[in-house]
Amino acid sequence: MFRGYHTIRALYDSGPQKFVDVNGWIQSIRQLKRIAFIDLRDGTSTKSLKIAVPLCDQSLIESVKNLKTGQCVSISQAQWVPTPQREQPFELKVGDALKDIQILGNVTSQYPLQKKSHSLSFLRTLPHLKHRSNYLGSLLRFRSHVENTFIQFFAQNEFTKVTPPLITSSDCEGGGELFKVDGSNDYFGRSAYLTVSAQLHLEALSLALNRCYTLSPSFRAEKSDTNRHLCEFWMLEAEWCFVRDVNELTHFTQNLLKSVIKSCYDNRNELIPQIIPQESDQVSTIIQRWENLLKNDNWPSITYTEAIKILREQHSNVKPFPNYEPQWGLALQSEHEKWLAGEYFQSPVFVTDYPKDCKAFYMKHNDDGQTVACFDLLVPGMGEIVGGSVREDDYIKLVTEMDRRQMNHNGDLDWYAALRQEGSAPHGGFGLGVERLVSYLYGNHNIRDAIPFHRAATGTIEL
Ligand code: 4AD
Repeated sequence: MFRGYHTIRALYDSGPQKFVDVNGWIQSIRQLKRIAFIDLRDGTSTKSLKIAVPLCDQSLIESVKNLKTGQCVSISQAQWVPTPQREQPFELKVGDALKDIQILGNVTSQYPLQKKSHSLSFLRTLPHLKHRSNYLGSLLRFRSHVENTFIQFFAQNEFTKVTPPLITSSDCEGGGELFKVDGSNDYFGRSAYLTVSAQLHLEALSLALNRCYTLSPSFRAEKSDTNRHLCEFWMLEAEWCFVRDVNELTHFTQNLLKSVIKSCYDNRNELIPQIIPQESDQVSTIIQRWENLLKNDNWPSITYTEAIKILREQHSNVKPFPNYEPQWGLALQSEHEKWLAGEYFQSPVFVTDYPKDCKAFYMKHNDDGQTVACFDLLVPGMGEIVGGSVREDDYIKLVTEMDRRQMNHNGDLDWYAALRQEGSAPHGGFGLGVERLVSYLYGNHNIRDAIPFHRAATGTIEL
Protein backbone atom coordinates (compact mmCIF):
# COMPACT_ATOMS: atom_id res chain seq x y z
CA MET A 1 0.00 0.00 0.00
CA PHE A 2 2.87 2.41 0.77
CA ARG A 3 5.30 1.61 -2.05
CA GLY A 4 7.50 -0.95 -0.33
CA TYR A 5 9.21 0.78 2.58
CA HIS A 6 9.15 -0.13 6.26
CA THR A 7 8.15 2.21 9.04
CA ILE A 8 10.39 2.23 12.10
CA ARG A 9 7.52 0.99 14.22
CA ALA A 10 6.96 -1.96 11.88
CA LEU A 11 10.69 -2.79 11.93
CA TYR A 12 10.70 -3.00 15.74
CA ASP A 13 7.64 -5.22 15.61
CA SER A 14 8.69 -7.41 12.69
CA GLY A 15 12.00 -9.05 13.58
CA PRO A 16 14.88 -9.62 11.11
CA GLN A 17 14.43 -8.65 7.46
CA LYS A 18 16.82 -9.21 4.57
CA PHE A 19 17.20 -5.77 2.99
CA VAL A 20 15.28 -2.78 4.23
CA ASP A 21 14.11 0.49 2.70
CA VAL A 22 13.23 3.24 5.22
CA ASN A 23 12.29 6.92 5.01
CA GLY A 24 12.56 9.47 7.79
CA TRP A 25 14.21 12.51 9.30
CA ILE A 26 17.75 12.61 10.62
CA GLN A 27 17.65 13.20 14.34
CA SER A 28 21.42 13.24 14.74
CA ILE A 29 24.52 12.15 12.91
CA ARG A 30 27.86 11.16 14.40
CA GLN A 31 30.85 10.76 12.13
CA LEU A 32 33.88 8.69 13.18
CA LYS A 33 36.92 7.81 11.11
CA ARG A 34 35.63 4.78 9.22
CA ILE A 35 31.98 4.82 10.05
CA ALA A 36 29.10 7.27 10.63
CA PHE A 37 25.94 6.67 12.64
CA ILE A 38 22.59 8.21 11.81
CA ASP A 39 19.71 8.30 14.27
CA LEU A 40 16.58 8.26 12.15
CA ARG A 41 12.99 9.03 13.18
CA ASP A 42 9.97 8.60 11.00
CA GLY A 43 7.11 9.76 13.24
CA THR A 44 5.65 6.30 13.81
CA SER A 45 7.46 5.36 17.01
CA THR A 46 8.89 6.78 20.22
CA LYS A 47 12.11 4.97 19.25
CA SER A 48 14.65 6.05 16.67
CA LEU A 49 16.55 3.72 14.38
CA LYS A 50 20.35 3.52 14.30
CA ILE A 51 21.85 3.35 10.84
CA ALA A 52 25.52 2.54 10.34
CA VAL A 53 27.22 4.05 7.30
CA PRO A 54 30.66 2.54 6.55
CA LEU A 55 33.09 5.16 5.20
CA CYS A 56 35.49 3.11 3.07
CA ASP A 57 36.80 5.89 0.83
CA GLN A 58 37.04 9.67 0.51
CA SER A 59 33.98 10.03 -1.72
CA LEU A 60 31.80 8.40 0.96
CA ILE A 61 33.28 10.62 3.67
CA GLU A 62 32.44 13.67 1.53
CA SER A 63 28.90 12.45 0.83
CA VAL A 64 28.18 11.95 4.54
CA LYS A 65 29.30 15.52 5.21
CA ASN A 66 26.17 16.65 3.35
CA LEU A 67 23.90 14.93 5.84
CA LYS A 68 22.43 17.14 8.55
CA THR A 69 20.01 16.99 11.46
CA GLY A 70 16.44 17.59 10.32
CA GLN A 71 16.90 16.48 6.70
CA CYS A 72 14.38 14.09 5.24
CA VAL A 73 16.14 11.08 3.70
CA SER A 74 15.32 7.87 1.94
CA ILE A 75 17.57 4.88 2.63
CA SER A 76 17.53 1.87 0.34
CA GLN A 77 18.66 -1.71 0.60
CA ALA A 78 20.09 -1.43 4.11
CA GLN A 79 21.23 -4.63 5.75
CA TRP A 80 19.69 -5.80 9.04
CA VAL A 81 22.44 -6.39 11.63
CA PRO A 82 21.48 -7.90 15.02
CA THR A 83 23.04 -6.06 18.00
CA PRO A 84 21.77 -8.14 20.94
CA GLN A 85 24.26 -6.62 23.40
CA ARG A 86 22.93 -3.08 22.84
CA GLU A 87 19.72 -1.35 23.91
CA GLN A 88 18.51 -1.28 20.33
CA PRO A 89 18.41 -4.97 19.33
CA PHE A 90 19.40 -4.34 15.72
CA GLU A 91 20.78 -1.66 13.44
CA LEU A 92 20.70 -1.13 9.71
CA LYS A 93 23.90 -0.99 7.68
CA VAL A 94 24.04 0.98 4.47
CA GLY A 95 25.99 -0.62 1.60
CA ASP A 96 27.00 2.39 -0.49
CA ALA A 97 26.08 5.77 1.02
CA LEU A 98 26.47 7.56 -2.31
CA LYS A 99 23.89 5.35 -3.98
CA ASP A 100 21.66 4.27 -1.09
CA ILE A 101 21.07 7.51 0.85
CA GLN A 102 18.97 10.06 -0.96
CA ILE A 103 18.23 13.47 0.54
CA LEU A 104 14.55 14.16 -0.11
CA GLY A 105 14.28 17.43 1.80
CA ASN A 106 17.17 19.64 2.81
CA VAL A 107 17.35 21.99 5.83
CA THR A 108 18.65 25.52 6.21
CA SER A 109 21.56 26.32 8.51
CA GLN A 110 18.97 27.70 11.00
CA TYR A 111 17.15 24.38 11.57
CA PRO A 112 16.41 24.75 15.29
CA LEU A 113 15.84 21.21 16.58
CA GLN A 114 18.74 19.11 17.76
CA LYS A 115 18.99 15.66 19.25
CA LYS A 116 19.02 16.89 22.85
CA SER A 117 15.69 17.17 24.64
CA HIS A 118 14.53 20.75 24.21
CA SER A 119 12.51 22.50 26.91
CA LEU A 120 8.79 22.79 26.28
CA SER A 121 8.98 26.57 26.54
CA PHE A 122 11.45 26.53 23.64
CA LEU A 123 9.42 24.07 21.56
CA ARG A 124 6.28 26.18 21.98
CA THR A 125 8.03 29.01 20.13
CA LEU A 126 8.12 26.77 17.02
CA PRO A 127 4.47 25.85 16.37
CA HIS A 128 5.16 24.61 12.81
CA LEU A 129 8.12 22.39 13.77
CA LYS A 130 7.62 21.41 17.41
CA HIS A 131 5.84 18.12 16.68
CA ARG A 132 9.05 16.75 15.19
CA SER A 133 10.46 16.61 18.73
CA ASN A 134 10.11 13.12 20.11
CA TYR A 135 8.15 14.28 23.16
CA LEU A 136 5.46 16.28 21.34
CA GLY A 137 5.24 13.83 18.42
CA SER A 138 4.70 11.04 20.95
CA LEU A 139 2.05 13.15 22.67
CA LEU A 140 0.06 13.27 19.43
CA ARG A 141 0.39 9.50 18.97
CA PHE A 142 -0.68 9.08 22.60
CA ARG A 143 -3.79 11.20 22.00
CA SER A 144 -4.60 9.16 18.90
CA HIS A 145 -4.31 5.96 20.95
CA VAL A 146 -6.65 7.35 23.64
CA GLU A 147 -9.23 8.34 21.01
CA ASN A 148 -9.04 4.92 19.34
CA THR A 149 -9.69 3.29 22.71
CA PHE A 150 -12.76 5.48 23.23
CA ILE A 151 -14.11 4.36 19.88
CA GLN A 152 -13.55 0.68 20.69
CA PHE A 153 -15.16 1.03 24.12
CA PHE A 154 -18.30 2.67 22.75
CA ALA A 155 -18.60 0.13 19.95
CA GLN A 156 -18.36 -2.69 22.50
CA ASN A 157 -21.15 -1.04 24.50
CA GLU A 158 -23.49 -0.68 21.53
CA PHE A 159 -23.26 3.09 21.15
CA THR A 160 -23.74 4.76 17.78
CA LYS A 161 -21.17 7.42 16.81
CA VAL A 162 -22.97 10.52 15.59
CA THR A 163 -21.98 13.88 14.12
CA PRO A 164 -23.92 16.78 15.66
CA PRO A 165 -23.66 20.26 14.11
CA LEU A 166 -20.94 22.75 14.98
CA ILE A 167 -23.00 25.79 13.98
CA THR A 168 -26.08 26.17 16.14
CA SER A 169 -28.55 28.69 17.48
CA SER A 170 -28.93 26.83 20.82
CA ASP A 171 -26.76 27.86 23.78
CA CYS A 172 -26.28 24.59 25.63
CA GLU A 173 -24.59 25.76 28.80
CA GLY A 174 -26.31 29.15 29.11
CA GLY A 175 -23.00 30.71 30.10
CA GLY A 176 -22.96 33.25 27.30
CA GLU A 177 -19.46 32.22 26.23
CA LEU A 178 -20.37 31.94 22.58
CA PHE A 179 -18.47 32.74 19.40
CA LYS A 180 -21.00 34.31 17.06
CA VAL A 181 -20.76 33.27 13.40
CA ASP A 182 -20.06 36.44 11.43
CA GLY A 183 -22.82 37.18 8.94
CA SER A 184 -25.16 34.55 10.44
CA ASN A 185 -28.10 36.96 10.59
CA ASP A 186 -27.84 37.68 6.86
CA TYR A 187 -27.16 34.06 5.97
CA PHE A 188 -29.54 32.16 8.26
CA GLY A 189 -31.92 34.98 9.09
CA ARG A 190 -31.03 34.58 12.77
CA SER A 191 -28.00 34.59 15.05
CA ALA A 192 -25.87 31.45 14.99
CA TYR A 193 -22.90 30.40 17.08
CA LEU A 194 -20.11 27.85 17.22
CA THR A 195 -21.28 25.10 19.55
CA VAL A 196 -20.15 25.05 23.20
CA SER A 197 -21.37 21.46 23.59
CA ALA A 198 -23.19 18.94 21.41
CA GLN A 199 -25.32 17.77 24.31
CA LEU A 200 -28.71 19.16 23.27
CA HIS A 201 -28.48 17.58 19.83
CA LEU A 202 -27.17 14.37 21.36
CA GLU A 203 -30.24 14.22 23.58
CA ALA A 204 -32.47 14.36 20.49
CA LEU A 205 -30.38 11.60 18.88
CA SER A 206 -30.31 9.41 21.99
CA LEU A 207 -34.11 9.37 21.95
CA ALA A 208 -33.80 7.82 18.50
CA LEU A 209 -30.70 5.63 18.93
CA ASN A 210 -30.83 4.76 22.64
CA ARG A 211 -27.05 5.17 23.07
CA CYS A 212 -24.93 7.63 21.13
CA TYR A 213 -21.71 9.61 21.40
CA THR A 214 -19.56 12.07 19.54
CA LEU A 215 -15.96 13.21 19.54
CA SER A 216 -16.07 16.74 18.22
CA PRO A 217 -14.76 20.26 18.72
CA SER A 218 -16.34 22.74 21.13
CA PHE A 219 -15.77 26.46 21.23
CA ARG A 220 -15.91 28.76 24.23
CA ALA A 221 -15.24 32.45 24.18
CA GLU A 222 -14.27 32.47 27.85
CA LYS A 223 -11.29 34.65 28.61
CA SER A 224 -9.60 32.20 31.01
CA ASP A 225 -5.90 32.25 30.23
CA THR A 226 -4.86 29.17 32.19
CA ASN A 227 -3.04 25.91 31.49
CA ARG A 228 -6.43 24.09 31.44
CA HIS A 229 -8.52 26.30 29.17
CA LEU A 230 -8.66 26.42 25.39
CA CYS A 231 -11.23 28.33 23.36
CA GLU A 232 -11.25 25.51 20.77
CA PHE A 233 -11.09 22.08 22.39
CA TRP A 234 -12.39 18.58 21.75
CA MET A 235 -15.07 16.94 23.81
CA LEU A 236 -16.09 13.33 24.03
CA GLU A 237 -19.82 13.47 24.74
CA ALA A 238 -22.05 10.49 25.38
CA GLU A 239 -25.79 10.39 25.94
CA TRP A 240 -27.96 7.39 26.63
CA CYS A 241 -31.48 6.45 27.64
CA PHE A 242 -32.99 4.69 30.64
CA VAL A 243 -30.62 6.37 33.12
CA ARG A 244 -32.29 7.17 36.41
CA ASP A 245 -29.44 7.67 38.83
CA VAL A 246 -26.23 9.68 38.75
CA ASN A 247 -24.29 6.64 39.99
CA GLU A 248 -25.02 4.89 36.70
CA LEU A 249 -23.21 7.76 34.98
CA THR A 250 -20.19 7.74 37.28
CA HIS A 251 -19.92 3.95 37.03
CA PHE A 252 -19.89 4.09 33.23
CA THR A 253 -17.39 6.99 33.21
CA GLN A 254 -15.03 5.11 35.49
CA ASN A 255 -15.22 1.98 33.32
CA LEU A 256 -14.53 4.00 30.18
CA LEU A 257 -11.51 5.70 31.73
CA LYS A 258 -10.15 2.47 33.18
CA SER A 259 -10.32 0.81 29.79
CA VAL A 260 -8.34 3.73 28.32
CA ILE A 261 -5.75 3.62 31.11
CA LYS A 262 -5.41 -0.18 30.84
CA SER A 263 -4.79 0.10 27.13
CA CYS A 264 -2.21 2.85 27.68
CA TYR A 265 -0.54 0.71 30.34
CA ASP A 266 -0.43 -2.35 28.08
CA ASN A 267 1.16 -0.27 25.31
CA ARG A 268 3.36 1.85 27.58
CA ASN A 269 6.66 1.05 25.87
CA GLU A 270 5.34 2.26 22.56
CA LEU A 271 3.48 5.28 23.94
CA ILE A 272 5.84 7.01 26.37
CA PRO A 273 9.29 8.21 25.24
CA GLN A 274 12.24 7.47 27.50
CA ILE A 275 13.54 11.04 27.55
CA ILE A 276 11.08 13.64 28.80
CA PRO A 277 11.49 17.41 29.24
CA GLN A 278 12.01 18.55 32.81
CA GLU A 279 8.74 20.52 32.92
CA SER A 280 6.72 17.28 32.57
CA ASP A 281 6.23 14.29 34.85
CA GLN A 282 8.95 11.69 34.38
CA VAL A 283 8.33 8.17 33.01
CA SER A 284 8.28 6.39 36.38
CA THR A 285 5.74 8.89 37.75
CA ILE A 286 3.46 8.42 34.76
CA ILE A 287 3.54 4.63 34.90
CA GLN A 288 3.04 4.65 38.67
CA ARG A 289 0.00 6.91 38.20
CA TRP A 290 -1.53 4.49 35.68
CA GLU A 291 -0.90 1.57 38.02
CA ASN A 292 -2.59 3.37 40.92
CA LEU A 293 -5.56 4.36 38.78
CA LEU A 294 -6.07 0.74 37.75
CA LYS A 295 -5.49 -0.63 41.26
CA ASN A 296 -8.24 1.28 43.09
CA ASP A 297 -11.42 -0.68 42.47
CA ASN A 298 -13.72 2.29 42.76
CA TRP A 299 -12.55 5.87 42.73
CA PRO A 300 -14.06 7.81 45.65
CA SER A 301 -17.40 9.55 45.15
CA ILE A 302 -18.75 12.27 47.46
CA THR A 303 -21.62 14.71 47.25
CA TYR A 304 -20.98 18.42 46.78
CA THR A 305 -22.32 18.98 50.31
CA GLU A 306 -19.72 16.54 51.70
CA ALA A 307 -17.02 18.20 49.60
CA ILE A 308 -17.87 21.62 51.05
CA LYS A 309 -17.72 20.19 54.56
CA ILE A 310 -14.22 18.76 53.94
CA LEU A 311 -13.05 21.97 52.27
CA ARG A 312 -14.38 24.20 55.05
CA GLU A 313 -12.64 22.11 57.72
CA GLN A 314 -9.40 22.49 55.82
CA HIS A 315 -10.01 26.21 55.33
CA SER A 316 -10.70 27.00 58.97
CA ASN A 317 -8.43 24.55 60.82
CA VAL A 318 -5.39 23.87 58.70
CA LYS A 319 -4.56 26.19 55.82
CA PRO A 320 -7.01 28.52 54.13
CA PHE A 321 -7.50 28.53 50.39
CA PRO A 322 -5.75 31.72 49.31
CA ASN A 323 -8.32 33.04 46.85
CA TYR A 324 -11.77 31.65 47.63
CA GLU A 325 -13.45 30.57 50.85
CA PRO A 326 -15.43 27.38 50.13
CA GLN A 327 -19.12 28.05 50.71
CA TRP A 328 -22.22 25.96 50.12
CA GLY A 329 -24.04 27.36 47.11
CA LEU A 330 -20.94 28.62 45.31
CA ALA A 331 -19.10 26.82 42.53
CA LEU A 332 -15.99 24.85 43.45
CA GLN A 333 -12.95 26.80 42.29
CA SER A 334 -9.95 25.26 40.63
CA GLU A 335 -7.92 25.50 43.87
CA HIS A 336 -10.64 23.54 45.71
CA GLU A 337 -10.86 20.90 42.98
CA LYS A 338 -7.11 20.42 42.82
CA TRP A 339 -6.77 20.16 46.59
CA LEU A 340 -9.63 17.64 46.94
CA ALA A 341 -8.28 15.32 44.23
CA GLY A 342 -4.54 15.99 44.58
CA GLU A 343 -4.10 16.21 48.35
CA TYR A 344 -7.16 14.98 50.20
CA PHE A 345 -8.06 11.90 48.13
CA GLN A 346 -4.85 11.63 46.05
CA SER A 347 -7.04 10.02 43.43
CA PRO A 348 -9.68 10.96 40.89
CA VAL A 349 -12.86 11.77 42.81
CA PHE A 350 -16.45 12.10 41.65
CA VAL A 351 -18.35 15.00 43.20
CA THR A 352 -22.11 14.66 42.76
CA ASP A 353 -25.33 16.58 43.44
CA TYR A 354 -24.28 20.23 43.14
CA PRO A 355 -26.67 23.06 44.04
CA LYS A 356 -28.94 23.77 41.10
CA ASP A 357 -27.72 27.36 40.68
CA CYS A 358 -24.12 26.22 40.18
CA LYS A 359 -25.11 24.14 37.16
CA ALA A 360 -26.89 24.34 33.81
CA PHE A 361 -30.66 24.46 33.29
CA TYR A 362 -31.11 20.95 31.85
CA MET A 363 -30.11 18.90 34.91
CA LYS A 364 -32.69 16.83 36.76
CA HIS A 365 -33.65 18.24 40.16
CA ASN A 366 -33.17 16.02 43.20
CA ASP A 367 -36.05 15.53 45.65
CA ASP A 368 -34.46 18.00 48.11
CA GLY A 369 -35.39 20.84 45.73
CA GLN A 370 -31.90 22.32 46.19
CA THR A 371 -29.51 20.10 44.25
CA VAL A 372 -29.35 18.42 40.85
CA ALA A 373 -28.43 14.86 39.80
CA CYS A 374 -25.03 15.65 38.30
CA PHE A 375 -21.36 14.86 38.72
CA ASP A 376 -17.94 16.27 38.00
CA LEU A 377 -14.85 14.07 37.91
CA LEU A 378 -11.87 15.86 39.48
CA VAL A 379 -8.31 14.62 39.02
CA PRO A 380 -5.04 15.57 40.74
CA GLY A 381 -3.21 18.48 39.16
CA MET A 382 -5.93 19.28 36.65
CA GLY A 383 -9.27 19.55 38.50
CA GLU A 384 -12.42 18.83 36.50
CA ILE A 385 -12.04 16.65 33.42
CA VAL A 386 -15.59 15.28 33.04
CA GLY A 387 -19.00 16.80 33.76
CA GLY A 388 -22.33 15.06 33.34
CA SER A 389 -25.87 14.71 34.65
CA VAL A 390 -29.21 13.00 34.49
CA ARG A 391 -31.33 15.28 32.27
CA GLU A 392 -34.67 16.76 33.25
CA ASP A 393 -37.12 14.70 31.22
CA ASP A 394 -40.33 16.23 32.58
CA TYR A 395 -41.62 18.94 30.20
CA ILE A 396 -43.28 21.13 32.84
CA LYS A 397 -40.30 20.98 35.20
CA LEU A 398 -37.86 21.83 32.41
CA VAL A 399 -39.88 24.77 31.10
CA THR A 400 -40.40 26.07 34.65
CA GLU A 401 -36.65 25.99 35.22
CA MET A 402 -35.95 27.75 31.91
CA ASP A 403 -38.48 30.45 32.90
CA ARG A 404 -36.90 30.83 36.31
CA ARG A 405 -33.59 31.49 34.57
CA GLN A 406 -35.27 33.86 32.11
CA MET A 407 -34.08 31.74 29.19
CA ASN A 408 -35.49 30.98 25.78
CA HIS A 409 -37.16 34.36 25.14
CA ASN A 410 -36.93 33.90 21.39
CA GLY A 411 -38.02 30.25 21.43
CA ASP A 412 -34.65 28.90 20.19
CA LEU A 413 -34.91 26.01 22.64
CA ASP A 414 -38.57 25.13 22.03
CA TRP A 415 -37.54 22.06 20.01
CA TYR A 416 -35.40 20.90 22.95
CA ALA A 417 -38.19 21.23 25.50
CA ALA A 418 -40.67 19.60 23.10
CA LEU A 419 -38.56 16.40 23.06
CA ARG A 420 -40.09 15.82 26.51
CA GLN A 421 -43.56 15.71 24.98
CA GLU A 422 -42.86 13.11 22.29
CA GLY A 423 -41.94 9.68 23.63
CA SER A 424 -39.44 11.01 26.14
CA ALA A 425 -37.28 8.67 28.21
CA PRO A 426 -35.19 9.14 31.32
CA HIS A 427 -31.71 9.83 30.00
CA GLY A 428 -28.33 11.28 30.87
CA GLY A 429 -24.76 11.65 29.77
CA PHE A 430 -21.49 13.49 30.13
CA GLY A 431 -18.80 15.50 28.38
CA LEU A 432 -15.10 14.77 28.78
CA GLY A 433 -12.41 17.29 27.81
CA VAL A 434 -10.03 15.33 25.60
CA GLU A 435 -7.04 17.65 26.05
CA ARG A 436 -7.44 17.67 29.82
CA LEU A 437 -7.56 13.87 30.00
CA VAL A 438 -4.63 13.46 27.61
CA SER A 439 -2.49 15.96 29.56
CA TYR A 440 -3.32 14.32 32.86
CA LEU A 441 -2.48 10.82 31.67
CA TYR A 442 0.64 11.85 29.73
CA GLY A 443 1.96 13.84 32.70
CA ASN A 444 2.06 17.11 30.81
CA HIS A 445 0.96 20.17 32.73
CA ASN A 446 -0.35 22.41 29.98
CA ILE A 447 -3.28 21.36 27.81
CA ARG A 448 -1.99 23.61 25.02
CA ASP A 449 0.49 20.84 24.20
CA ALA A 450 -2.28 18.23 23.90
CA ILE A 451 -3.76 19.81 20.78
CA PRO A 452 -1.52 20.29 17.75
CA PHE A 453 -2.22 24.00 17.18
CA HIS A 454 -3.79 25.55 20.25
CA ARG A 455 -6.30 28.36 20.27
CA ALA A 456 -6.72 30.09 23.62
CA ALA A 457 -7.65 33.53 24.95
CA THR A 458 -4.75 36.00 24.62
CA GLY A 459 -2.78 33.47 22.54
CA THR A 460 -2.21 34.95 19.11
CA ILE A 461 -3.10 32.56 16.32
CA GLU A 462 0.31 32.01 14.77
CA LEU A 463 -0.79 29.45 12.23
O1 4AD B 1 -18.57 20.69 32.28
P1 4AD B 1 -18.84 21.10 30.85
O2 4AD B 1 -19.04 22.55 30.59
O3 4AD B 1 -20.07 20.23 30.38
C1 4AD B 1 -20.78 20.40 29.24
O4 4AD B 1 -20.52 21.15 28.33
C2 4AD B 1 -21.88 19.40 29.11
N1 4AD B 1 -22.89 19.94 28.20
C3 4AD B 1 -21.31 18.10 28.60
C4 4AD B 1 -22.31 16.99 28.52
O5 4AD B 1 -22.89 16.62 29.52
N2 4AD B 1 -22.51 16.44 27.32
O6 4AD B 1 -17.64 20.60 29.93
C5 4AD B 1 -17.30 19.24 29.89
C6 4AD B 1 -15.78 19.07 29.92
C7 4AD B 1 -15.14 19.64 31.17
O7 4AD B 1 -15.18 18.71 32.23
C8 4AD B 1 -13.71 19.89 30.72
O8 4AD B 1 -12.95 18.70 30.77
C9 4AD B 1 -13.90 20.26 29.26
O9 4AD B 1 -15.19 19.81 28.86
N3 4AD B 1 -13.81 21.72 29.08
C10 4AD B 1 -12.74 22.35 28.59
N4 4AD B 1 -11.57 21.88 28.12
C11 4AD B 1 -10.68 22.77 27.66
N5 4AD B 1 -10.91 24.11 27.59
C12 4AD B 1 -12.08 24.63 28.04
N6 4AD B 1 -12.31 25.93 27.96
C13 4AD B 1 -13.06 23.73 28.56
N7 4AD B 1 -14.31 23.88 29.06
C14 4AD B 1 -14.75 22.65 29.36
